[in-house]
Amino acid sequence: MDLTTLEKECLGCKRCGLCETRTHVVFGQGSPHPKVLFVGEGPGQQEDEQGQPFVGRSGQLLDKYLFAMDLDRSTNCYIGNIVKCRPPQNRDPLPEERQACMPWLREQFRCLQPKIVVCLGRVAAQTLIRPDFSVTKEHGQFIQKGDTLFMATWHPAALLRNPAAKADAFGDFVALREKIEQLGL
Ligand code: URA
Repeated sequence: MDLTTLEKECLGCKRCGLCETRTHVVFGQGSPHPKVLFVGEGPGQQEDEQGQPFVGRSGQLLDKYLFAMDLDRSTNCYIGNIVKCRPPQNRDPLPEERQACMPWLREQFRCLQPKIVVCLGRVAAQTLIRPDFSVTKEHGQFIQKGDTLFMATWHPAALLRNPAAKADAFGDFVALREKIEQLGL
């Protein structure tokens, strides 16, 4: 199934209770041949209203980091989430919600075939890398899984709450840029 067909199917998803309270499914956005796949946690209020990932304040910060590294969500990277529907009050997605949503992300991986995946924040890192992954201790490290390199950095919303981490996060994006060049992507 191609990405467009997958998105059409996903927009009608009722695999978990989040479908009851969502306004829009936020499937993902970006190039179908991305240099990097970024994965966040799940839509917030503005994403739920607009149907696109990272469109609120944290999205604006993410776009600044992307711009500094010659990355852009419309041309050379893709942005998705662990869960496609907003958890009420922005709570962490429950294990059963993550599990129910995972087949959509797995299909996105199959279509996008990313060489590099960047996990934005703890929820994505602990779902995609390791359940006990620590962003504070292990951010910026590239971890090979099959044909794909995974790395995690802070969620942009965490950087808005704790600007002191911005320098380290920027370092992770510089390392990402170097990795992209090293792999000739
Ligand atoms: N936070 C996320 O994790 N994902 C979004 O799409 C928006 C905010």
